[in-house]
Amino acid sequence: MPTPLYDSLQALAARGPLRLDMPGHQGKPLPGGPLWPSGIDFTENGATGDLFGEEADAIQAAERLWADRFGFDACLFLTGGSTQGIHAGLAMLTGAGGRAVVDRGSHRSVHHALALLDLAPHFLLRPWLAEDGVAGPILPETVDDALRRHPGCSTVCITSPTYYGVLSDIPAIAQVCHAHGARLMVDGAHGAHLPFLGYTGFQAADVVVMSAHKTLPAPGQTALLLANGVGLAELQRWGAVYGTSSPSYVLMAALDAVRDHMEGEGTARYQETARLTQALRRRWPSLRERDGLALDPARLTLSSPDGFALGEALRRRDIYTELSDRGHVVSILTCATGAAEVGRLERALAETGLTGPCAFCPPPPEPPQAVLTPRQALFAPRARALLADSLGRIAACQIAPYPPGVPVIAPGETIEKKHLAYLREIGYNKRHCDIIQPREEWNHEAHHRYHQL
Ligand SMILES: Cc1ncc(COP(=O)(O)O)c(C=O)c1O
Repeated sequence: MPTPLYDSLQALAARGPLRLDMPGHQGKPLPGGPLWPSGIDFTENGATGDLFGEEADAIQAAERLWADRFGFDACLFLTGGSTQGIHAGLAMLTGAGGRAVVDRGSHRSVHHALALLDLAPHFLLRPWLAEDGVAGPILPETVDDALRRHPGCSTVCITSPTYYGVLSDIPAIAQVCHAHGARLMVDGAHGAHLPFLGYTGFQAADVVVMSAHKTLPAPGQTALLLANGVGLAELQRWGAVYGTSSPSYVLMAALDAVRDHMEGEGTARYQETARLTQALRRRWPSLRERDGLALDPARLTLSSPDGFALGEALRRRDIYTELSDRGHVVSILTCATGAAEVGRLERALAETGLTGPCAFCPPPPEPPQAVLTPRQALFAPRARALLADSLGRIAACQIAPYPPGVPVIAPGETIEKKHLAYLREIGYNKRHCDIIQPREEWNHEAHHRYHQL
């Protein structure tokens, strides 16, 4: 099976080159043991390729294999996680200034990108699935309505799947976007395994970002920026704005090797994991697929009358899940999870006796009024305050409890009575948050910085 980048780095390392360049270990083992495969940890040296370069090289060959496998025109390797891809993708699609239609439940990297690009968001809200205590999918009609009301918006950005494994109908949403002349970017950070399980929905989008490291057997920070209708040069241009100029060859080679692994054994194992997940969902109270609710086949969202206690009880047994909240415990099951791991989880679940119907999770209130743009809120002087004492103040950060996993209050929005009442109801109001410091308290430097915007 071809792994062009990994093979070329191995071949170069085997020749015993004299390395008088970066990284500083120059190919020797790191002190303290076999922590890092320094032998293939090169820099751009004329023989190793250049992630952001024009010439066809082993990196581009490896990226091409990913693009073809996932059905996209181009793929750029990312060594700064999906965070890098989200910043790059939004900058590429929207430019600076203007407006975008954005999933309210977006990851903080999207909210940061809005601020840095000075974009004003029109948020897409998700239906609340009361029985499950989670937000449902973004509906195509919600996107259609937003684009009708804001015809100047040429970019729509949604997350699919969500942390809880909820998939939106990307092809239907893409069709709506394209009918309005808009482009669709999908934060698929949690979905890099899905195409290997036969899911083809991502291909309908214009830009998709995926974290290989979240659901594939790949090292931290590895991710992919995939696009249709846009060439590699454009992806490189924007990837370089937000990425390091010294991308790790080990991480890039791992992306090459993991795709190859997934072409064979990895996919067979993942299919088995999907079967194990379905069986777990049947045996334990959990979020289940039904008409109108499509789920990531390998995400296990257990329900519990006290999800925090269940998460803690599992931790005490050295079982570390991805997320616990008031009514759920979310586990990421991957091709690295086999029957032995599932057995251990099930024995622990039985011991805890803490699974059951989901604790009552009330729907989040309507978002508050935005009085500052995300950019103004990011750069304004801020102060730390107890949420319970922040009535009428403007939030300088996202206040995003799980669930809903959607900011109840986003940066630049006023903290209103109903939001505090909701946060009190779900036990979240004892926390601290960043609020915009009142103008009277700004010093000269703060005024200066803010007015430079
Ligand atoms: C939905 C979503 N998008 C983007 C990201 C950022 O991904 P990364 O950690 O790979 O930068 C995350 C991280 O948790 C996420 O959950």
